[in-house]
Amino acid sequence: MRKTTRLRLAGALAAALVAAGIATGPAAQASQKQPTLAELAQRHGRYFGSATDNPELTDTAYTALLGSEFDMITPGNGMKWYATEPQQGVFDWTNGDQIVDLARKNHQRVRAHTLVWHSQLPSWLTSREWTADELRAVLKKHIQTEVRHYRGKVYSWDVVNEAFNEDGSYRETIWYKTLGPGYIADALRWAHQADPHARLYLNDYNIEAVGPKSDAYYQLAKDLKAQHVPLNGIGLQAHLALQYGYPTTLEDNLRRFSALGLDTALTEVDVRMILPADDAKLATQAEWYRSLTEACLAVRRCVGITVWDYTDKYSWIPAVFPGEGAALPWDEQLRPKPAYFAIRAALGGK
Ligand code: XIL
Repeated sequence: MRKTTRLRLAGALAAALVAAGIATGPAAQASQKQPTLAELAQRHGRYFGSATDNPELTDTAYTALLGSEFDMITPGNGMKWYATEPQQGVFDWTNGDQIVDLARKNHQRVRAHTLVWHSQLPSWLTSREWTADELRAVLKKHIQTEVRHYRGKVYSWDVVNEAFNEDGSYRETIWYKTLGPGYIADALRWAHQADPHARLYLNDYNIEAVGPKSDAYYQLAKDLKAQHVPLNGIGLQAHLALQYGYPTTLEDNLRRFSALGLDTALTEVDVRMILPADDAKLATQAEWYRSLTEACLAVRRCVGITVWDYTDKYSWIPAVFPGEGAALPWDEQLRPKPAYFAIRAALGGK
């Protein structure tokens, strides 16, 4: 073969590689490292986060991806009441601190979760009756001690978690039954006093679509804003399931909260399916991840997306929804699934 022909062929090959998105020359090689989900999200002024939990932190393959791919971390359990105040007035920051320290080391921010909830409460709190005055004092002390401990170290707090029923009525929790609906405004005010810079959220599941439950949040948020209660955002957990359909009004819903002057975030995303997973289900799941990412990018005050852990290896789903799973963008071997590539594509990555 003549030298010029060889050169021409080499050039054609390089052009074909470039067209296929495969880097060639030395300059291209320097940029061959793919941007992370966090870096892609940052190009849109958003974050991309993951929840994590303390027992998993001994898994070094797991922590490598956790530390590199995300820029926001949520402790899945470590900051809940049972963990932080296991006995009345005795506070334990071990698990929360471990995650905050790891996040700081990896230059990640923290969405702190959660102060006021009906679930995962210590038994000293649930096994006796309280007067309203007693319980208000217990709640105020818990909120202010915990928020003060993490003051300056966390980006936001899920102050109240899961306050409403599906029909939009107040959930009959220990807080609601003893203190009435005013506990929500009180909790927000106490948290704000303890850390004036933390972004304060109400957070719930099944409020992705417009409907009775998200309407209840819309009305409450409007009332709280009118009363100048320090509320900054609404967290939509987005625990989705293929068998229940995609919440097609998500973008409209995000937009109406933005119009109230509130941030929104997708805070606990997973898309579960009835097992076994197959290619068709994984393809639909990928479409859903793509759609929800696009919905957040389309609404100015949707500040970011957090998946409820990133790998099926550590998903909470199989334990709580028997027969369901495969809900996250990485599989149990930490290999990226179609959902991961769909998120990248939605964020404008290759
Ligand atoms: C889950 C944790 O991931 C599990 O490890 C734990 O056993 C139960 O709670 N909504 C929430 C989260 O707000 O706190 C829940 O986390 C999942 C549902």
